[in-house]
Amino acid sequence: MTFSSMSGRTGAAGGGMGTASSVTAEGANSSAGPPLPAGQEARAVSAAVAWPLRSYLELGALPTAVPCARLHVRQVLWEWRLDALAETAELMVSELVTNAVRASADLTTGQYPGQRLAGMTPVRLWLTSDRSCVMIHVWDGDQRMPIRQEAGPEAENGRGLLLVDCMSAAWGSYMPERSSGKVVWARVGEAKP
Ligand SMILES: Nc1ncnc2c1ncn2[C@@H]1O[C@H](COP(=O)(O)OP(=O)(O)OP(=O)(O)O)[C@@H](O)[C@H]1O
Ligand SMILES: [Mg+2]
Repeated sequence: MTFSSMSGRTGAAGGGMGTASSVTAEGANSSAGPPLPAGQEARAVSAAVAWPLRSYLELGALPTAVPCARLHVRQVLWEWRLDALAETAELMVSELVTNAVRASADLTTGQYPGQRLAGMTPVRLWLTSDRSCVMIHVWDGDQRMPIRQEAGPEAENGRGLLLVDCMSAAWGSYMPERSSGKVVWARVGEAKP
């Protein structure tokens, strides 16, 4: 499966067409893979981008993006015969897309002003696999980076990235070299040696 064969734009709210309203300039080549980082993370992330199994989904930054993304992950991993990783991958995607949707709220300005409507900015999800593990990349247009919290037992928030930290084999975030926003990535399972 290639990026192009699985690309889609979903995220409808309340049965309406809640898709990201336009493919912004920085998203024009998104189906080719996630925007790459500069520097240290480049090698690990670039390797995963070239893995043979790949999918891409663009969602509107709406709460409904989360169940759409979960369903997508489950379906794609079933198709890739990686069902054993599906539950964990679904959970990771759920946390990362939830965060991306939240961070995208009210994001109406930026590098490409005028191309985004409030609540309708895109959130992008890429999945790649070497048939052994799954790499998840989630892009949102917010420039702020995620910060893992030390959530105590009473805390109501701050658990998402803790969960990602505990259940992924590795995770990180970076500002792409050639686009706005940032990417948060997580790997589920061990890569082939
Ligand atoms: N995509 C993102 N963009 C900007 N900031 C982020 C993003 N993801 C996480 N953060 C920051 O990192 C913090 C920790 O994220 P985390 O997912 O652990 O907790 P939370 O989203 O606040 O709460 P919970 O996930 O438990 O509902 C967030 O409060 C937010 O400040
Ligand atoms: Mg969260």
